[in-house]
Amino acid sequence: MTAPTTGRPGFGMARPGQPDPGDGPPAGAGEPGGRFTPGLAPDALVDLAAERRAAGIDDVLAALDRELVGLAPVKRRIAEIAALLLIDRVRERFGMATTRPSLHMCFTGDPGTGKTTVAMRMAELLHRTGYLERGHLVAVTRDDLVGQYVGHTAPKTREVLKRAMGGVLFIDEAYYLYRAENERDYGQEAIEILLQVMENQRDKLVVILAGYASRMEAFFSSNPGMSSRIAHHIDFPGYSLDELAAIADLMLGQAGYRLSEQARQTFREYLRRRMEQPRFANARSVRNALERARLRHASRLLAQDGQPASRDDLMRLEPADFLASRVFAGGAQGRA
Ligand SMILES: Nc1ncnc2c1ncn2[C@@H]1O[C@H](COP(=O)(O)OP(=O)(O)OP(=O)(O)O)[C@@H](O)[C@H]1O
Ligand SMILES: [Mg+2]
Repeated sequence: MTAPTTGRPGFGMARPGQPDPGDGPPAGAGEPGGRFTPGLAPDALVDLAAERRAAGIDDVLAALDRELVGLAPVKRRIAEIAALLLIDRVRERFGMATTRPSLHMCFTGDPGTGKTTVAMRMAELLHRTGYLERGHLVAVTRDDLVGQYVGHTAPKTREVLKRAMGGVLFIDEAYYLYRAENERDYGQEAIEILLQVMENQRDKLVVILAGYASRMEAFFSSNPGMSSRIAHHIDFPGYSLDELAAIADLMLGQAGYRLSEQARQTFREYLRRRMEQPRFANARSVRNALERARLRHASRLLAQDGQPASRDDLMRLEPADFLASRVFAGGAQGRA
């Protein structure tokens, strides 16, 4: 799957050599890549705030803050990385030595904690700061990299790497690449190729490995070469009940729905139960629950034969839209 970063204008849309539309950069500020920027005189002074604005970093960080609930440590780390890249870029223009920092990362956390979403934002940010040329995200799993037969893995892995060049390669459940019980597993071949590219082409590609913390830990102990190439380990904690409720509000707002006062209470109770059940997937469970509620809401409105519906009726979810869920039936099925 190749995910576009976002559809908003001005986000991740710039092409190398083609400055972003929007706020004009201050004199001397470069476009993403910084390759075409003139050098600075040794006694020049740089307006760092203007640089930050011109690179669109503030926009990306503000959107991250606005559109993602919680995740404070994750947001902090992203801001730190953005600061480092910006300062690097300015140093470069003074002709100072800059070693491109290694930015391969590992995102650990339970399902639905925002790893893929943050990876997409990260790709956007790395593009904004000029670290990556394209800033797109290619999300893959073992099956996209590893072949079934001898000789199939290398071309598969290389094809994926080619697609990801200039952006982020996101490998979900990366530990499946390594099968301890089978030393002739083709996954090893994919790992070797990845390691090489992560080292030699780190200015063109950022690899983000994602998955459960404990399994990732085991993967790294068996693959120290991989571990040593990961510069940032970022943990995504599970969401609290309040955070899940806030995520629901955000999602509903974006979709043009709202909860009635009673539905708000019902939905909290829904979440409280759902969190205890199997296959709970944090924000994804919230999204699924809301999708189901929308289905019931639609049927409920249509079932009100002959009754006209107001604009608010079309937006407002009621307790009934949640109470029909299996979560309230007390069953252990744990589905939305
Ligand atoms: N903090 C958050 N605020 C708002 N929405 C969120 C947040 N975290 C996740 N979401 C939403 O929840 C859904 C699942 O998130 P995402 O796919 O990023 O999780 P994930 O950690 O990659 O899950 P998995 O491990 O199952 O792949 C997405 O629709 C995302 O937009
Ligand atoms: Mg994901």
